[in-house]
Amino acid sequence: MTSFDVVVIGGGPGGYIAAIRAAQLGLSTVCIDEWKAADGKPALGGTCTNVGCIPSKALLQSSENYEQAGHHFADHGIQVKGLGLDLAQMLKRKDKVIKGSNDGILYLFKKNKVTFFHGKGSFKSASEIVVGDEILTAKNIIIATGSNPRALPGAGFDEKAILSNDGALAIPEVPKRLGVIGAGVIGLEMGSVWRRLGSEVTILEALPAFLGAADEQIAKEASKIFLKQGLKMEFGVAISKVSTAKNAVSVQYKNASGESKTLDCDRLIVSIGRTANTNGLNAEGAGLKLERGFIVVDENCRSSVPNVWAIGDVVRGPMLAHKAEEEGVAVAERIAGQKPHVNFNTIPWVIYTSPEIAWVGKTEQQLKAEGVEYRTGSFPFSANARARALGDTNGMVKFIAHAKTDEILGVHIIGPMASELISEAVVAMEFRGSAEDIGMICHAHPSLSEAMKDAALAVDKRALNI
Ligand code: FAD
Ligand code: NAI
Repeated sequence: MTSFDVVVIGGGPGGYIAAIRAAQLGLSTVCIDEWKAADGKPALGGTCTNVGCIPSKALLQSSENYEQAGHHFADHGIQVKGLGLDLAQMLKRKDKVIKGSNDGILYLFKKNKVTFFHGKGSFKSASEIVVGDEILTAKNIIIATGSNPRALPGAGFDEKAILSNDGALAIPEVPKRLGVIGAGVIGLEMGSVWRRLGSEVTILEALPAFLGAADEQIAKEASKIFLKQGLKMEFGVAISKVSTAKNAVSVQYKNASGESKTLDCDRLIVSIGRTANTNGLNAEGAGLKLERGFIVVDENCRSSVPNVWAIGDVVRGPMLAHKAEEEGVAVAERIAGQKPHVNFNTIPWVIYTSPEIAWVGKTEQQLKAEGVEYRTGSFPFSANARARALGDTNGMVKFIAHAKTDEILGVHIIGPMASELISEAVVAMEFRGSAEDIGMICHAHPSLSEAMKDAALAVDKRALNI
């Protein structure tokens, strides 16, 4: 039996970051992770690194390069002759990017003296974890076991015809017709990848509205742009049956008007959300409370058992890698006696489509529902000099500020490099800055960030470039 100050179960972005921070703070720390690479070796980084954030962004970049070369280089006076797609190489490159991240985390564990166990951890008691033949005792246990894709009833994932994110990131040839169930984040990102590579993509979405969590104005703009790009989308559908035959999938559904319809496709991605993963953990055996599969925790990520903490996708809140990381750092610091705090209102969201969509804070519809008085200011990228030079002028930046105090309540971007631009808004909101604060700061010219400044100035009807 080996004793540690902290045992972390799960080596995704929540778990591995928590382990590193705990070790930095002088706590003896072990991290257990069961993920196996194709060769059976450890593959640290969880969903995010192996079948999530990293591989999806690698393929989004590769497919965007292909689309640019095929459709947009000519605008710049660049002629590409004999353009071809080597999908096997594209997928190989993605796998190499994953491997680099897996190895990077192993290196960080060594550097920070985090002990690593490759295997499945499960509770023997509230202070003992079994992994393989070992029993580890711990003063504190952090659960960071992540999430799994949710399947449609009666249509389990075979990763050949019916694909989760796992299979969607590794389709060996470009499907002629690709169906996607769910116009959420994965549906839009993976739908974009395969559309750019040549698939005819149809997305079926249950809700009547598009991207419900985003600001309505931005969601409407996104919908228009995606339709123009050739993504077919149907809203308000009810799926009744999915059947597979050799190399084909058939989806029967009722459309928004109640008519029976069928979508025939070569492959189907099902991206209808994710469920918390506590498989084989024996969490309830250790006295932990669960609700709808999630481990119940308080605002500091402490579970119903005082020395057991849980972070990331396995607890409430958005399923985002950086949210898991923030919680991991905060829990490690709290175990070490510090008093950290995670501000959920300043966790940014990014959808890595083209154009990218990013936001932080409240949407207009949320503020209306809360009865908060606000003013908005927006600025289109078509009026931003850098966007014009890039040839990437779709979209806008929108600031929402309190009507009386001018404090920034939300910032919503659709446009080039929205994923990077949003950081300025996060910093401003973390310091409780006003729209005027951003408007008064010098921004480099020509840069996309000037659209942030102009949108902030527009709140007071003072935008300079429109
Ligand atoms: P995970 O990353 O799921 O890691 C959990 C780890 O625990 C896994 O390695 C698992 O094998 C291990 N484990 C589970 N049970 C046990 C056990 N009993 N014993 C040992 N090990 C165990 N988020 C973003 O912020 N940005 C993005 O761009 C983004 N893109 C995404 C794209 C896709 C296709 C998907 C599916 C997700 C994406 N996400 C993105 C979400 C992000 O991946 C998750 O929010 C994040 O991985 C959650 O981190 P985690 O540490 O909680 O769990
Ligand atoms: P999601 O919650 O983003 O979207 C699921 C969509 O499926 C919703 O629009 C929902 O209304 C719809 N849906 C649910 N049931 C349905 C049904 N039976 N028929 C038709 N539509 C149905 O979930 P998604 O896309 O699976 O992604 C899971 C999570 O992974 C995301 O919520 C996000 O937290 C994370 N993620 C984050 C990314 C990022 O940060 N860029 C990228 C990809 C995933």
